[in-house]
Amino acid sequence: MIVVTGATGNVGRALVDRLVAAGRPVRALTRDPRRAGLPAEAEVVRFRQDDPAVLFTGATRLFLYAQAAGERPGELLRAAREAGVRHVVLLSSAIIAEGADETHPIHVMHATVEKAVRDSGLEWTFLRPGGFATNALQWAPQIRAGDTVRGVFAGARSAPIHEDDMAAVAEGALTDPGHAGAVHRLTGPQATTNAEQVAAIGRALGRELTFEEVPPEEAGPDLFPHVPPGMLESLLRTFRAAVGATPEINDTVEKITGAPARTFAHWAEDHRTDFQPSSAP
Ligand SMILES: NC(=O)c1ccc[n+]([C@@H]2O[C@H](COP(=O)([O-])OP(=O)(O)OC[C@H]3O[C@@H](n4cnc5c(N)ncnc54)[C@H](OP(=O)(O)O)[C@@H]3O)[C@@H](O)[C@H]2O)c1
Repeated sequence: MIVVTGATGNVGRALVDRLVAAGRPVRALTRDPRRAGLPAEAEVVRFRQDDPAVLFTGATRLFLYAQAAGERPGELLRAAREAGVRHVVLLSSAIIAEGADETHPIHVMHATVEKAVRDSGLEWTFLRPGGFATNALQWAPQIRAGDTVRGVFAGARSAPIHEDDMAAVAEGALTDPGHAGAVHRLTGPQATTNAEQVAAIGRALGRELTFEEVPPEEAGPDLFPHVPPGMLESLLRTFRAAVGATPEINDTVEKITGAPARTFAHWAEDHRTDFQPSSAP
């Protein structure tokens, strides 16, 4: 049995779909099973940090989100180990790197959980992806409403990675031998700016979309509704540093999965419906 935390997340849901398709027993954890919309073949269980033992009965492997590890990751990992889990694959972040700002809140969150995993006595694999292609979903409400996208740093460059490429790597790390103690840095295959991503979404939709740059000092919760206010400043610093920068690009996805990482244009085609008016939540 493989336990997947964050099973309704971008990566978690893609991983559950893959494990189900491969006929593997999966327990999909979510805080709200009624709204989860997970496949019937998965055992869907309510995630509760206060009673972790029930989450892991009969399981041998765990896919872990830092958010699910919570304030006391050691306790969750101990419960997993005591129930029989042997290997944990952690969705960490490329922000954990040589010379990184160790005070950045995203660094602190992931470094804390990585340490707890290393100390847990479980076998582990760390996935450290860079920017997700799904970050572009932040523009979906604007694209459903019109042809102009207001956003910060039109020229910020990243190598966005498809959530299903991360899920494919996670599947390999959970089910194939040889990933214990491995740290996999994961990127998409090409550098692209924010403005280029908006244009690529437009091509997928058959529309011409324009990126209108907003000065970062004017960026507030309207542009970043899901970012906790305390995190916005450090996030804007990260975006500013990406303007004109050369992002890390590697071939780890292909090495592990046998298929090249998918481009942002491919991702935009896969997600066309997310940007169409009929998909508004
Ligand atoms: N976005 C990026 O560019 C980027 C880059 C590198 C690393 N990361 C890391 O990747 C992760 C985000 O991945 P994603 O986009 O797949 O996630 P996502 O779509 O935001 O979903 C996260 C899932 O985790 C669950 N979750 C959230 N808070 C939780 C909590 N307190 N306890 C238990 N479960 C919780 C939620 O499930 P339920 O609501 O169903 O419980 C949710 O579906 C984060 O850890 C982020 O730091 C992101």
